[in-house]
Order: sequence, then structure tokens, then C-alpha cells
Amino acid sequence: MDYKNILIDREEHVAVLTINRPDKMNALNDDVIAEMRAAFDELESDQEIRVIVVTGAGDKAFVAGADIKELSTLNALQGVAKSERGQVLMFNIANMNKPVIMAINGFALGGGCELAMAGDIRLASDKAKLGQPEITLGIIPGYGGTQRLPRLVGKGKALEILLTGKMIKAEEALQIGLVDKVVPHDSLMDEAKGLAKAMANLAPIALALIKKCVYYGLETDLKSGCTFESLQFGAVCTTDDMAEGTKAFLEKRKPEFRGK
Ligand code: COA
Repeated sequence: MDYKNILIDREEHVAVLTINRPDKMNALNDDVIAEMRAAFDELESDQEIRVIVVTGAGDKAFVAGADIKELSTLNALQGVAKSERGQVLMFNIANMNKPVIMAINGFALGGGCELAMAGDIRLASDKAKLGQPEITLGIIPGYGGTQRLPRLVGKGKALEILLTGKMIKAEEALQIGLVDKVVPHDSLMDEAKGLAKAMANLAPIALALIKKCVYYGLETDLKSGCTFESLQFGAVCTTDDMAEGTKAFLEKRKPEFRGK
């Protein structure tokens, strides 16, 4: 499919999705959200692709939020609809059967911070700045920020960030658990692609089932989560990749996983 606002580069089993509106700090307008939903559907069904990296075009921004021009004219019902459309994208990312790495190359504000939080692993440039500045516009986050932020950093830090609208630097984001690693700006994409390639060599079905277990488990109690894990463990035992992984270990060689 042809996209106007995003780029997709494929390198072997890794796809890099770049949000490409650098003149508007890669702000998420309706077209970008729609294209990203289509792109994640496309990447999910692409059998060659095993891991996805998301980043922003240009040197300044990952994504500087929802498009404020579009927000400025919304009425209540349009606001609900806009929020729901964005939330579907965020859930689709978590529901992907493939790991999604967020390579945060600059400002990740509002919807940009929410997009980052919807990914599985967050790598940040040492120049990145994150935050939920919606309150400074007289609004609230609409793409899951009030929910995912406290789950990641705890209630106190989340409320501080949400209620002040302040930006935090990458190092502080690392300290509070909002990002998982900070790397020098110029090596961000090499780091992200290196991590993606390493995961692309692992067993795709097992990667998918780990995601399912973690995301399901976070929504339920420990016992139910562990029951769910046992069932997925049973499922993974039926895969060719399980046979290959264990056999390769016993034969002292590297496994070759085929996603079957
Ligand atoms: N929506 C729409 N346009 C945006 C945008 C957004 N969220 N963020 C930046 N832009 C646009 C600016 O309007 C400007 O467009 P213009 O050149 O046509 O005037 C362009 O991107 C460059 O932004 P600018 O503000 O000039 O860059 P800066 O380096 O001075 O500041 C930011 C960068 C990210 C700090 C600043 O753009 C900003 O605060 N953006 C809004 C962040 C926000 O509140 N996000 C939450 C939205 S719900």
C-alpha cells in the first residue's frame, strides 16, 4: 500500500516504520492515525517481518502529539470518536504478534508519549524529551496516557507528569521506567535495529505468546495470569520451533527458527 505520511523500510525480517511529517514535528493527524492502523495490519500479516521499529522523521521529534490544529475544532462527540480511533491504534500495537520497538529520537509529547508507551520496548535518544502537555492546552490525554503512564511509572510520578504538563529528559524517563534504555542520539537507530535483528532470530510464535502472557497478565490477577501462561506454554510445546530450539541446544548448535 502507498502511504503519504509514513515510510516503511524492510531489512530482512525487520520493518522500520517512520512517521514522516517532520515540518509538523510528526504530529498525529487523522490521516497519520489511519495510515498507521493500515500499516500495522499490513506488517502483522507480512510473514517475512518478525520485529517492527517505530521512529519519527527528522532530527527533532519522535511525535509532538496529536495534531493541535485538528483538535482545536472538535465538539464532544467528535472528541470521543477521535480518542477512540487513536486508542484502537495503540491497542493494535500491543496486540501485534510481533515485538514493537519504539526508537524515540526527540520530542515524544502527548500522543507521541502515548504512542511510545503502546510499544513493547522503548529506546530513547539522549536528546529525547517526553511528557503529556495536554493540560497546558486545557485538555486531557485521549490515547491512553492517563492509563498507561501510571501502569509504567506508578501513580505519583504519573500524576505529577499529567497534572503539570512538564517535559522530562530522557535520563529522568529512564530513572522512572518510562523508557528502557537511553543511547547517544547518533546511535539510536543502530541500537534499535540491532535489538530488532537479535529478536528476529528468536522463535516468532514464542515471542508472540510472551507478549500475550504479559499483556493479559497485567490486566488480571496472578493466579489467572499463571493459568493463562500454562495454556500458552502447552501451545508452544506443539511448535516445530520448540523441537528445533531444544534439539539445537542438545546438539550444541544455533537453532534456526521458522515460525512454525
Ligand atoms: N500539532 C500540530 N502542529 C504541531 C504540533 C502538534 N502537536 N507540534 C508542533 N507542531 C508544528 C508547529 O505548529 C510548527 O508548525 P509551523 O512551522 O507551521 O508553525 C512546527 O510543528 C514546528 O514546531 P515549533 O513549535 O515551531 O518547534 P519548536 O522547536 O519551537 O518546539 C515543541 C517544539 C515540540 C516543543 C513544540 O512544537 C510544541 O510544544 N508542540 C506541541 C506539543 C503538545 O502540546 N503536544 C500535545 C498535543 S495534544
